Amino acid sequence: MNSSTPPLQFSSKARRTKEQPINALIAAAMANQKLVNFAAGLVDSHTLPTETVHQITDAMLSDHIRARAALQYETTLGLAELRRTALRHIESLENKSSDELGLTPADFVITTGSQQALYIIGDILIDPGDIVIAANPSYFVYTGTLQSLGAKVMTVPMDDNGMDIDAVDRLLARIERDGKLDRVRMIYCTSYFQNPTGLTLSRERRPKLLEIARKYSKSHDVEIYQRQKPTHSYGWAFGRV
Ligand SMILES: Cc1ncc(COP(=O)(O)O)c(C=O)c1O
Repeated sequence: MNSSTPPLQFSSKARRTKEQPINALIAAAMANQKLVNFAAGLVDSHTLPTETVHQITDAMLSDHIRARAALQYETTLGLAELRRTALRHIESLENKSSDELGLTPADFVITTGSQQALYIIGDILIDPGDIVIAANPSYFVYTGTLQSLGAKVMTVPMDDNGMDIDAVDRLLARIERDGKLDRVRMIYCTSYFQNPTGLTLSRERRPKLLEIARKYSKSHDVEIYQRQKPTHSYGWAFGRV
């Protein structure tokens, strides 16, 4: 690029996107393999299933027909068989049929992790200036995503029982008095082993959170985004009220 080249014009979204602390945290962990970095969320590498993954990839790639299919594009929702398997998995976890759950494989999207799912949900729900209610503190990587989407994040405290639901109610009442209820898009709640506190939303608070979201879903639905039990490996659920 010579000196007469005009500077690249970044979008307003790119300008709102700041360097994420997770980059430095991961880089620090990578630079020092002996460092046990609790901040970056790295998995203990000794627990990673290298042998199982080796066997699966071996089986897949040693058969030319399967290998070609595996390396080819698939539908944008993700591998159809994987989505069917995900549905069967959820049926067994919830002990309900797909009909009872009201789900078909078309309701599933395979993402590279819950961070990508969070990003997509933010992308389809949030316009700049829209309000997201979150606990303080919340998973900081998503807070960065919300900032880049231009969301106004309003926080409520936490206690030993997780997100303070009465504070959510009071905050929504105040937003309504200020005439801004129509800007509230989502309550972001990590209900099991919240990051970074490790706190779990108590059983009593869960239905109350739904009631509150319903109470304020006047001009449109206030969505609740909550991450499900880590033992339920589908990671998160998106509750429409
Ligand atoms: C609350 C929460 N949401 C999302 C993520 C991102 O998860 P993934 O690695 O599946 O993208 C994490 C990772 O630590 C998390 O703690």
